Amino acid sequence: MTTTWDASTFDAFERRGWTGLDAAYADGFARMTAHTVAPLLDAAGVGAGSRVLDVGTGPGTVAAAALARGARVTAVDASPGMAARAAAACPGAEVLTAVLPELPLPDAAFDAVVGNFVINHLGDPEAGLAELRRVLRPGGRLALTCWESSDMRATAVFGESVEAAGVPVPEDLPARGPFLAGFADRAPAFAELLDRAGLVDTGARRVKWTHRVDPDAWWASVVGGTPITGSLVARLAPADAARIKRHYDLAVAHYAEPGSTTVALPAVAVLAAGTRPNT
Ligand SMILES: C[S@@+](CC[C@H](N)C(=O)[O-])C[C@H]1O[C@@H](n2cnc3c(N)ncnc32)[C@H](O)[C@@H]1O
Repeated sequence: MTTTWDASTFDAFERRGWTGLDAAYADGFARMTAHTVAPLLDAAGVGAGSRVLDVGTGPGTVAAAALARGARVTAVDASPGMAARAAAACPGAEVLTAVLPELPLPDAAFDAVVGNFVINHLGDPEAGLAELRRVLRPGGRLALTCWESSDMRATAVFGESVEAAGVPVPEDLPARGPFLAGFADRAPAFAELLDRAGLVDTGARRVKWTHRVDPDAWWASVVGGTPITGSLVARLAPADAARIKRHYDLAVAHYAEPGSTTVALPAVAVLAAGTRPNT
């Protein structure tokens, strides 16, 4: 059977895929996504008194940082488990379970809207952007991150290990979503997407960092805390999973740090931002 990855099929996969991942995600993958939080909030102009919406808040890392800047924060996530975790981490925020592209929020309610690695999880990124523009006040700022696929070694090692192990990916699992297929490799394309959504003063730039992590802990974080790799490995025969893990061990060994048990994995994201025009 060949699955067509139209928007609703991909969104349905996402809803199933994130269920029950919140604890593993918060303890693992969220430590890597935390690297872009400060640049994201800076790009959206978040400061004391800003009314901020954090979409796809996950365990609430961005929301907590916005609160620490003195902002008034609303945070939403499609996963009830993630929303509960964000509510526990951010006692000063309003936290809702809600699914883009339909948010139960009034028009023009926020000075800043931010989303850290959520646009790449939307079946219809354009519809999601239209909704984010709707809730932004005229003159308000939107800032979003996504992965830059080509040099993102911290996650690329997983796909490459699956390929090297010769394990076929089941056809009912997406290789990557509609956003990463279309826009992630070129920052200018991400900025143009914001232009087409009716934003002005748009721009996009790469943000690079090094993710230092114990290699076995990183394997467990990605396999236990992310939907695509997690769903794949969970469905494999133990021998196939072990073969992929052996290739992963070889791949991450290239990034070993002398005298340390950690590996230093290069990570890169694209940060795009724009302003809702006043008219
Ligand atoms: C990669 S995580 C990012 C979490 C967090 N922003 C961070 O910085 O770690 C993506 C999050 O987006 C949420 N999500 C995916 N699709 C969504 C949608 N359509 N509407 C709202 N949240 C969504 C997932 O449940 C997940 O918590």
